[in-house]
Amino acid sequence: MNIQVESVAPFEYSTSCLVVPIYQSETLADEVAQLDEKLGGIIAETLSEDGFKGKVGETFVLRTNGQITARQLILVGAGKPEKLDAAAIRKAAAKAARQVRALKKTDFAIAIPRLADPNAPHLTPAVVGAAVVDGIVLGLHRFDDFKTDEDSKSSTQIENVSILSPDADAMLGEVQWAQVTAEANLRARLWVNLPSNKKSPLFLAEQARQIAHENGLACTVWDENRIQSEKMEALYAVGMGSDNPPRFIILDYSPQGHEHDAPLILVGKGMTFDTGGYSIKPATNMEDMKDDMGGAAVVLGAMSAIAQLKPQCRVMAIVASAENMINGHAMRPGDIVTARNGKTIEILNTDAEGRLILADALSYASELKPAAIIDFATLTGAIGIALGQEAAGLFSNDDDLANRVLAAGEDVGERLWPFPMWDEYREHVKGTVSDVKNIGIERRAGSIAAAVFLEHFVADGIPWAHIDIAAVALVREDRPLTQRGATGFGVRLALELIRQWS
Ligand code: BES
Ligand code: MN
Ligand code: ZN
Repeated sequence: MNIQVESVAPFEYSTSCLVVPIYQSETLADEVAQLDEKLGGIIAETLSEDGFKGKVGETFVLRTNGQITARQLILVGAGKPEKLDAAAIRKAAAKAARQVRALKKTDFAIAIPRLADPNAPHLTPAVVGAAVVDGIVLGLHRFDDFKTDEDSKSSTQIENVSILSPDADAMLGEVQWAQVTAEANLRARLWVNLPSNKKSPLFLAEQARQIAHENGLACTVWDENRIQSEKMEALYAVGMGSDNPPRFIILDYSPQGHEHDAPLILVGKGMTFDTGGYSIKPATNMEDMKDDMGGAAVVLGAMSAIAQLKPQCRVMAIVASAENMINGHAMRPGDIVTARNGKTIEILNTDAEGRLILADALSYASELKPAAIIDFATLTGAIGIALGQEAAGLFSNDDDLANRVLAAGEDVGERLWPFPMWDEYREHVKGTVSDVKNIGIERRAGSIAAAVFLEHFVADGIPWAHIDIAAVALVREDRPLTQRGATGFGVRLALELIRQWS
């Protein structure tokens, strides 16, 4: 999609379809009133007579009958002016873009009025421009790669979008950045939406190699033999139950002059399917476990955009990838393995496999003496019990890092909620015959138990944050920015964090 920003007045702009945001209020915004004058008052008429209220995301299509350059007008509700925020803008932009596509248009322009509201000083042109782009790019995404008949496929592709704003210059940089990050998000969605017969640890390794090639990153992939000889017995154990062998993937972005910096390391859980192993999952919704590589998709998606971001700091991505299946080599409940950092783990439940593969990934990341480690993982069903699909869980050993991560999430509209890791919880995973066990106490604080387990594998003194995305990686119903399926949650957050890091 080609997105441009221009300072042309909306009524003069040559386009087949003009999107005009309308507030839910008694009076039209100045620019809209000006436009309405050229149109002989049809906008005001629509508001008073056709039941269009201007609620966030509500749309209404009008013909202009040649009174302005655009032939069709799409009114989109922006909600109450005093409630306007980036989330409302994203939602409205997404709805408008979908409406354009439903009309089978390939181009449109969207008029952005100047926001002079002193109550919303944070809504700068840059923030508004970015939110519009997020809404358009994310909102238009559909997963229809496996549809073969043209009718059910999204046959219309929107090719050109013009954002019309008196503040075009102030918007441009942020608009371009938003497009880069939103497209990185779509890459993550694509991988997560793929069914597990079309992805494997080897596939993720291939994607990583390609990303490295395109972005000038160093890429290392360890196969199952190397994983074993590198003393990653936990990852090895999880991987051996499948005919698709595990892989350990390392990407390194080292900009000139920062080759010896302590890296910011992103770690991703890359289970390409999770049956639960011998502690097998119930059949209902097991198909959703194709999303268990959502953390890997986040970190690979973020790295795929890093060459365009060019942050002046060293960033690495580490993905531990395996498929949790059942065969004669699969791990058994009760098995004891030694993770790379030397700690022994009793595997009391083979379905708590994500923390096992992350144990080795975090141990390895710790050896690299990083500035910080952030891991993204579809780790626990319990996180969805606590937060639903409205936020991901945040766990950290460092308040400063936690605050930076929270702020980045806030900025991109990906909500996080912090959880405690008190000593009492640490007792939950204390081993009886081993150092640690891979589950806590039945039905108690499952997400925290997972986090305090992971903490054993982060070396002392390293700031670390764990983001549990199990409930947000995939949604079961359509949302403003995502149709049912993968959300790419975390990609934009990770990129925002990297941007603020350098
Ligand atoms: N991959 C799952 C967590 C998950 C649940 C992801 C729902 C996406 C949606 C993880 O490996 C798992 O099975 N966790 C267990 C842990 C339990 C056995 C301690 C869980 O949450 O039930
Ligand atoms: Mn599991
Ligand atoms: Zn899992």
